[in-house]
Parts: sequence; structure tokens; C-alpha cells
Amino acid sequence: MCGIIGILGAKPVQPLLLDALRRLEYRGYDSAGMATLVDGRIERRRAEGKISRLAELLERQPLAGTVGIGHTRWATHGRPNEINAHPHAGERVAVVHNGIIENFRELREELEAAGYLFETETDTEAVVHLIDSYLARQMGPEQAVAAVLGRLEGAFALAIIFAGRHDVMIGARRGSPLAVGYGEGEMFLGSDALALAPLTSRICYLEEGDWAVLDGTTARIFDRDNNPVERPVTQTALSGALIGKGQYRHFMLKEIYEQPAVIGDTLRTFVNPQSRAIALPELPVDFATLPRLTISACGTAFYAGLVAKYWLESVARLPVEIDVASEFRYREAPLPEGGAALFISQSGETIDTLAALRYAKEQGQTILSIVNQPESVIARESDAVLPTLAGPEIGVASTKAFTTQLTVLACLTLAAARARGALDEKRAAALSAALTEVPAHAAEVLNHDEAIEAMAHGIAEARDVLYLGRGPMFPIALEGALKLKEISYIHAEGYAAGEMKHGPIALIDEGVPVIVCAPSGPLFDKSAANVQEVMARGGSVLLLTDAGGRRRIGKGPKWTIELPAVDPFVAPLLYAIPVQLLAYHTAVLKGTDVDQPRNLAKSVTVE
Ligand code: F6R
Repeated sequence: MCGIIGILGAKPVQPLLLDALRRLEYRGYDSAGMATLVDGRIERRRAEGKISRLAELLERQPLAGTVGIGHTRWATHGRPNEINAHPHAGERVAVVHNGIIENFRELREELEAAGYLFETETDTEAVVHLIDSYLARQMGPEQAVAAVLGRLEGAFALAIIFAGRHDVMIGARRGSPLAVGYGEGEMFLGSDALALAPLTSRICYLEEGDWAVLDGTTARIFDRDNNPVERPVTQTALSGALIGKGQYRHFMLKEIYEQPAVIGDTLRTFVNPQSRAIALPELPVDFATLPRLTISACGTAFYAGLVAKYWLESVARLPVEIDVASEFRYREAPLPEGGAALFISQSGETIDTLAALRYAKEQGQTILSIVNQPESVIARESDAVLPTLAGPEIGVASTKAFTTQLTVLACLTLAAARARGALDEKRAAALSAALTEVPAHAAEVLNHDEAIEAMAHGIAEARDVLYLGRGPMFPIALEGALKLKEISYIHAEGYAAGEMKHGPIALIDEGVPVIVCAPSGPLFDKSAANVQEVMARGGSVLLLTDAGGRRRIGKGPKWTIELPAVDPFVAPLLYAIPVQLLAYHTAVLKGTDVDQPRNLAKSVTVE
């Protein structure tokens, strides 16, 4: 959630820390700060708001020093202001922290009783004072941190520096990710490889419960029981170049436009270009005999899983159970023997999804994952990974990650259908062919951008917006509503179209636009009936359909966008794009911060 960087170096660290924070800003952007050692003293600069505010402060008051830590925050405990911004520090120690210290209240009481004065509302400050209390008892940094880690409860990643000690920096991870970077005479800590990429390509991902003591040239790593351990140092493939927006005004728009290409890239890894047959890599799951697949994920990734439930059940005849990870992890669901569980995550770091994965693993399930970050913890803890090749997604609202997840899930559906003998050859070939045509059709959909921008004027004025869909279009309706609310701050709800008459129809009046996702196909007439119900009550309908659907519905919808006519199987991949564009243009009209909407972060490593 928050981003952490630490540098134990030989060169001035301020510009390096700042550059790393910019790369980490997608993880949280409530406030930011850094601390360095200047002549052995801890010096700090912190600012409320985005990294640019910190950069302005550093222009006025630069920080010297070759050892430092930095942080970009997504607030959990304490308001996002300067005083609560990290690093938190005393005279002897400075700490940056991602995650939550669950027992901080008890620790705070104990430390206050011992005379420590707390100046912030954060859980992190308790860690600072606790380390200080051990250092005050003449313990060295290593001993003090070992003692403190034994007392902390919760999920966290920490980077710690010590006054007077240019030769040591300590990192620890429990729940939240942390990596050690190996440079030439310099060492680094970072929340992810993206932050470390320009500094070094040699990276070691700490494992659950590990902590690392860095000196100028190497790191000694200890496990949760303080035993020294060896962890592999890998070569990261990530580029050090800062990812730019190119000709686009926002990352989100760029990422929407990248979809034809990245869907194609993802597809190419699974589809034989000559035969057009789906060829998944060997998986540790026998779909022919699998009793049930459990799917879990959060947010947009969950909606991708929901589309897959429709696909896997109707096309592959495979029973699927799906739940949002934050519920699934605590539901204590009994899972079938010999079962498999699939987790979907762009970041590969989402803590709820990771916890759900671990629960399924404990229940003896084979773990599959679909991730966009092949080096992430969810990827590493899976038995098999099906990667999305979306490339870095910087806009906080997920777009191309979603459609590439759908691409992988469609391929998985066809592979499972073949294994289960659920499709005849002709139909299987038709679905594979439809899938290979998605990139070209996605490019056609983007041609509607201007028309959608014009329609967005009607949406931007609304207070509430409804999205309706049936079958696999229901999750697209949910996703459309999520996109709109997260970036435009307009209240939006997605409903199964048939559910409308059971309650939500009461909301319909002239002021409530209703976006209906209804491609031609077996469910079209049912959706058309729901469109009529909305229009009869004065609601303004924006209909997403194809030429056949447009003909059948006739006049009536206020706006219609005619998308390419495709097999209904692949329609979710295409209908996702106009709802993304509609949310984007509405947000631009409302003047919100499209790429970094308020209160959100790209990677959610707290519960
Ligand atoms: C919405 C969005 C979030 C994420 C969710 C899961 O636009 O981006 O709902 O989909 O936080 O994140 P990952 O996929 O990284 O596990």
C-alpha cells in the first residue's frame, strides 16, 4: 500500500530516493517523506500530498547524506498530514513502514508509561520508540530490531536507519512485500522491483517473516526465528526507465488504448497462431476430473473472475465457486479434496488475495494464479502462474490488467472445456477463432472514443448512475460502475438486469442515466425488456450493443454505441472498453485526478 525505499550508499541519496518515490507513488499518495543521516544525525523532510510537494520542499531545504529511507503513504492510522507522514523518527532511529501494527495501542500504552511522548496518531511511532527503548539499553541495532520484531503483531514491511551508523540499514517483512537490492558498494531496500530497477537489477525478495541487515556490500538475512538463511538473488527484467504517458493526457487513457496490443500479446502466449488452437502450458491440475474450481480476488480482478465463472460453468461445464478475497479468507469454506483454487491479481500483492491463497493452500488445494507481476508474492506462492502481459499499469483504476485477465481466463475456459469434452470441435474452433479476433475488434471499439466523450457530458451531470447487464455482462456492469465511482466520484451501481425490478427500479427517473451492456445473443431480448422498463419510467438509457441489437431495440435509447458483432463468448472483453472510456471522460469533465483518485492506491497490502 505505502511505498518504501532505503539506500545505504556512497553517493548523495536525496535524488535517488526522490526518483524511487516517484516510481512508488502509485502505491499511495497521501503524503511522502525521507530521512537521511547527516554527519551521523537523522534529518527528515516530510510533506502532505503528492511527491511533487516533497520535491518542492527539498528544493528549498535539501537533504545531504548517503544513507536514507523514503516513504510514500496511503494512510491507515492517522490523517494524511505532515505530522503523520513517514519517516517517523527519534534521535536514535528512523523508520518507514508499510502495513499495520495491530498491537500498537498496547505498545503505545507501555511506552507512554515508560516516559515516551507520542506526537503522531500513527501505529509506526510505537515501533520507533520501541526500538529506541532497546537501543537505550545498550543493544546494537541488530539486537534491538530482533527484540522488537518479536513483539510486533500484524502485517508490515519496515526499513530502519540508525543515528551514527552509516554502515547499517535493517529491513523486515511480514505480510507486506520487501525486496533487497544489491548494488556495487551500495545496498537497497524497496517495496517492489519497480522502485529498485534503476538502482540495480540484482534483487532478493524477502520471504514471509524474514528480516535483513544490510551493510555497504551485502545483506545478512534471518528468518522469523532469527536463524540465518540464504535467499536467492534474482535478476529482475524490469526496465529502469520511467514509464511515460507518451502522447496521452493520462496513464489511464494510454492504458485503455494499449488494450488491443496487450490482449494480443497475452493471447499469443496461449494460442497457436497457425492452428488457432489454445495451448496452455502444462498445469498441475487435471481439468477433466476437477470437481470444482474456487476463484478469489478483489475489486476489478474479482469481476474478471466473475466473468470466468459464467464462462467455465456454461462453456466448460466446470462448477466454480467465487468470492471476494476479503470474505473468502474468513469464511472457512470447506474445499473439495483434490480441488484447485485460482487467484487473480494485477499487482500480485493484494493482502486479502494472498491470505485467501494461503487458506486454500492449507486446505490442500492446488494453487493457480493469474498475475501481471511475475515476481510478486502471489506468483511465488502459486503452484502455477498464468501471466497477463499487460505491462506496467500505472493508472490506479485498472483497465488493461482487467482485459488481459479476461483473455487468460477465456483461454483457460477453452482448455478446460477441451479437457472435459464439453465442446464439440466445431464450436471449440469457433470460440478460439473469435478470441484471436479480439485485438482487432478492440481497436475498432476505440474508434468510438469521441462519441463516448460526447456522451460523458450527460453522465457528468448525474448524481447516480446505474449499469445493467445479464450473464457475463453483469460483471461488466459491476466493473463499469466501479470505474465510474472510483475516478469520477459519481455514485454508481451495477445490477444484474433481471434484478432491477426487485428494487433498484425505484431509483429510476429522468436524472438517472442507465448504461445497459447488451450484445446480441440468447440473453438480448431479456435485456431489451429491461431497457423498455427503464425508458417507460423516464430513465435515459445508454445502450452498448451491436448492429443486430440496435435494429431489434429500435428507437428509444438516448444514446447507443454500436460495437462489433462478435460471438457472445468474447463480448465481455470488448464491452469492458466503452465503460472504461465513459468513466475516463466523465472524470476528466469533472476535473478529478484521474490517475491517482482520492483515497485509493494501486496496491492494497493492508486488510
Ligand atoms: C479498480 C482496481 C481495484 C483492484 C483491486 C485488486 O480499478 O484497480 O479494484 O482491481 O484492488 O488489485 P490487484 O489486482 O492488484 O490484486
